[in-house]
Amino acid sequence: MTGPRHFVDLWALDAATLRAILDDAHRRKAARAGWTQGRVDADAPAAGRTLAMIFEKNSTRTRFSFDAAMRQLGGASIISTGADMQLGRGETVEDTARVLSRMVDAVMLRTNEHDTVERFAGAADVPVINGLTGASHPCQIIADLMTLEAHRGPVAGKTIAWVGDGNNVCASYLHAAGKLGFRLKIASPAQYSPSGADLARAVEAGGRVELSEDPRKAVRGADCVVADTWVSMGDVDYDARMIALSPFAVDDDLMDLAGPGAMFLHCLPAHRGEEVTDEVLDGPRSLVWDAAENRIHAQKSILAWCFGAI
Ligand code: CP
Ligand code: NVA
Repeated sequence: MTGPRHFVDLWALDAATLRAILDDAHRRKAARAGWTQGRVDADAPAAGRTLAMIFEKNSTRTRFSFDAAMRQLGGASIISTGADMQLGRGETVEDTARVLSRMVDAVMLRTNEHDTVERFAGAADVPVINGLTGASHPCQIIADLMTLEAHRGPVAGKTIAWVGDGNNVCASYLHAAGKLGFRLKIASPAQYSPSGADLARAVEAGGRVELSEDPRKAVRGADCVVADTWVSMGDVDYDARMIALSPFAVDDDLMDLAGPGAMFLHCLPAHRGEEVTDEVLDGPRSLVWDAAENRIHAQKSILAWCFGAI
């Protein structure tokens, strides 16, 4: 008997699964064009199912998109902060997973420690979804790639440039590169470059990855330039980051160096005037609002896969 379908990290999923999730997300989005947000998809794959969500960190997009996604799939959701639960008073992650497995059909967690999601998945009898940890943010990458594909066609063979901190979102790009066949050029300061383990995972999956400390080199020939905050939730070295990362700001001049028609992505929230200028974020090359919307469509297909409907 196989266990539940966990969506914890992209490196642990096979290429066909990631492709199937992306294809389902495109289909589901197209099928509900012009519908109101609350209308349920015709196949209602989450009918009779409930998703629990646990947040140890702030969230706007992930929280609302998963809740809206469950409604559009015909199911329901329950949201709590970790601090409000007995988890906040020391009940173990494993005991919490065992209890929630008796109450809901899937659990999404956003945690400080990646280990918390892994431990939860190890003890749960229902699918567990990583809604961001300090180490990775796999749901974001499904929405980003879906967005890029809608504008530029299949991501296989495309070049994506990551500019800035080699953080959790960057790690999930690394986990996806080989599986989905895109080239990833990363520019970050040496002290904030991606972890060796994530780079090794990318190489192991056949990813074509280039590292440098030069944003101009990274963006040349890119179909898409991606940035994120210089100070992620939980980072404590604010001043050092602002100094080291200031040469990595994405502005119109940097975007002009990328390929013709190059697009811009950012998972949001953006820090305008830091990692990206208003001109880029609000300009014609920015896909950030489409990507934010696509969080709903991507989460729905991730959930549908977890429920065995894909
Ligand atoms: N991009 C993203 O995950 O946004 P939230 O932190 O608002 O969920
Ligand atoms: N890297 C950011 C992403 C926020 C969605 C963080 O972890 O805070």
